[in-house]
Amino acid sequence: MTTSSADHALIEKELDDLIPTLSLKEKVAMMSGKDFYKYYFTVDNRQFGVRPYNAGGGCDRIGLPPLSYADGPRGVRLPNGTTCFPVSMARGASWDVELERRIGVAMGVEARALGLTLLSNVCINLLRHPAWGRSQETYGEDPYHLGEMGAALIEGTQSQNVMATAKHLAANSIENARFKVDVTVSERVLREVYLPHFKRAVDAGCATVMSAYNQVNGHYCAHNKQLLRDILKDEWGFEGFVHSDWVKGVYGADAAESGLDIENPEPTFFGEDLIYAVKSGETKEAVVDEAVRRILRMQLRFSRAADPRTYSESDIGCAAHTELAREAAEKSMVLLKNDDALPLAKDGARIAVLGKLADRVNLGDHGSSNVTPPYAVTPLAGIEKHAAELVKLQSDTSGDPSASATLAANNDVAIVVVGYTYFDEGEFIPGDVALEEVEDEEEAHRGGDRNSLHLPGPDVDLIKSVAATGTKMIVCVMGGGAIMMDEWFELADAVLMIWYPGMEGGTALARILFGDVCPSGKLPFSIPADESHLPYFDKHADDITYGMYHGYTLFDRDSVTPALPYGFGLSYTQFDYGEPLLEIIGDLARIRVEITNSGTVAGAEIAQLYAGFKNSEIDRPSKLLRGFERVELAAGETAMVEFTLNRTAFTHYDEEAKGWRLDAVPFDIFVGPSSDTLTCCATPLVWDD
Ligand code: BGC
Repeated sequence: MTTSSADHALIEKELDDLIPTLSLKEKVAMMSGKDFYKYYFTVDNRQFGVRPYNAGGGCDRIGLPPLSYADGPRGVRLPNGTTCFPVSMARGASWDVELERRIGVAMGVEARALGLTLLSNVCINLLRHPAWGRSQETYGEDPYHLGEMGAALIEGTQSQNVMATAKHLAANSIENARFKVDVTVSERVLREVYLPHFKRAVDAGCATVMSAYNQVNGHYCAHNKQLLRDILKDEWGFEGFVHSDWVKGVYGADAAESGLDIENPEPTFFGEDLIYAVKSGETKEAVVDEAVRRILRMQLRFSRAADPRTYSESDIGCAAHTELAREAAEKSMVLLKNDDALPLAKDGARIAVLGKLADRVNLGDHGSSNVTPPYAVTPLAGIEKHAAELVKLQSDTSGDPSASATLAANNDVAIVVVGYTYFDEGEFIPGDVALEEVEDEEEAHRGGDRNSLHLPGPDVDLIKSVAATGTKMIVCVMGGGAIMMDEWFELADAVLMIWYPGMEGGTALARILFGDVCPSGKLPFSIPADESHLPYFDKHADDITYGMYHGYTLFDRDSVTPALPYGFGLSYTQFDYGEPLLEIIGDLARIRVEITNSGTVAGAEIAQLYAGFKNSEIDRPSKLLRGFERVELAAGETAMVEFTLNRTAFTHYDEEAKGWRLDAVPFDIFVGPSSDTLTCCATPLVWDD
């Protein structure tokens, strides 16, 4: 969005004049979506996401079109052959904000080519527990990392003058119970753990925020005045509008008073009920005027901004975007183990590709984030295309342990592709929303929160049978979050987390397996050594309390070692870190560290910076991520990586004072390649008063 503050001032002036000329009916009509059910039940034959939806009614008389809306996080969710990127969690593992910005641009371009004005693509809910069915739609477990990745997607998308939605505010981290669960969370935990990434999204200029279905502290989020009005709008100064999540979550016209500006997808309460509420004095007309101002403000700012380019159908799923999908897949795959098994030599070795998922298009869940690209390269197809002339390939995709073992025994290497599909995890829609008629019993149970954190039993049997042959085994794991691997990890020679890797996933995988690309992704969550180390989770909960600790902060607090720590990932090369050096300049701390690629191939390292709070006088995580940098280094090359931190990065929320406070204690600064391999700066950081 390229309008200036002078343009903004003119728009406000124009709205001062325009809003009083609108009738109450016209204003209220702008405050809800329209025509969703009309198409859904008739023309669209109950298929979701097959057309852009009107997410705000517009006003014909003044020539204002409705908002034209589509999802979602892994690409534009319309049936037009749009580019399917790796899921957000995979992109979180790239830790590459510049790449995420470019993905945002590509999504924005495709959205514009399809005539959209609003793209609901920025899911930044915090991954509190790996069983959460929609973990694949977000970026990870850490608020800082989530915020940086989300902000980049927002900036990229909005650079094409399409509004981005940051969703779902707030504490939306259980899927099956999402329509009812009440999350109890203290003010401090809310501010420090569940909201910082939304604040970052607002600071990045996000035009719209979607309220979550669930309740927070006894109030549904679309009715949650503390979240929507007090914090988001009044305290953070959010200038855009809030729209509801779909079909459920709004239960009365009073949501407008609480700060909801648009009810989606239809005016169940923001129609006649809201008009009545205003006429009867229950809702002040000023509330409606404010909502309309927010909607119009964004519509005018975005529609008047000069476009950076023109858009056409040929942009959709174009070569530049599919290349970007490949780059993202390559940068997101995480090498979790490598006993000298990778990269594979292209020297005529005999390779067996095994597992049910080896040749299956497995792009992620089938909920609102589903994308239907023009093609998708499966792992087997990618390997065949890349290496068929260089090695001898055989495959068995039956998943049958004994047939697979026979094939493995006759080969030098077995590549086993295992993991989840949209049946095991994802958005949970069937029955619940009662929009879909589900005849197939199995289909009716698809998606939702996971029932298990382990691989499906047949996958584990397959791995064990192949391992018993003694053939070198590379296990490639598909999924949207942390998977427990303890029962088979030791048996594998190499393990690669390949996520739901998008339409070019197979190509990316082959290039990593054969060493054309050096793996560089790092886990955006921790994998526990034991499930009992995780916080409490109940997919059917009516209520639940979210505390200060989850993921690495919880493992630190409880002094337990995770199976694989937050920020962990291997490479084909080696990176050495020098001593981190700290310098304080006014309100800023500058931390510099030298990183050397001491191996023999080029690669990328993701350096992480954590602030340490061991001297804190209050209960606080022992460390928190406060910076990360991805740096590409040729073999033998050294680079100086620099982080800059503001003193606000060390504050905590003081509930009594209702504000952020900086304790007068020394803070530790840690730098290193993952959350458990860190070097502390020789001198602690002490801020002047
Ligand atoms: C999902 C949202 C999505 C909306 C519209 C809801 O069920 O929770 O993420 O944007 O549907 O598709």
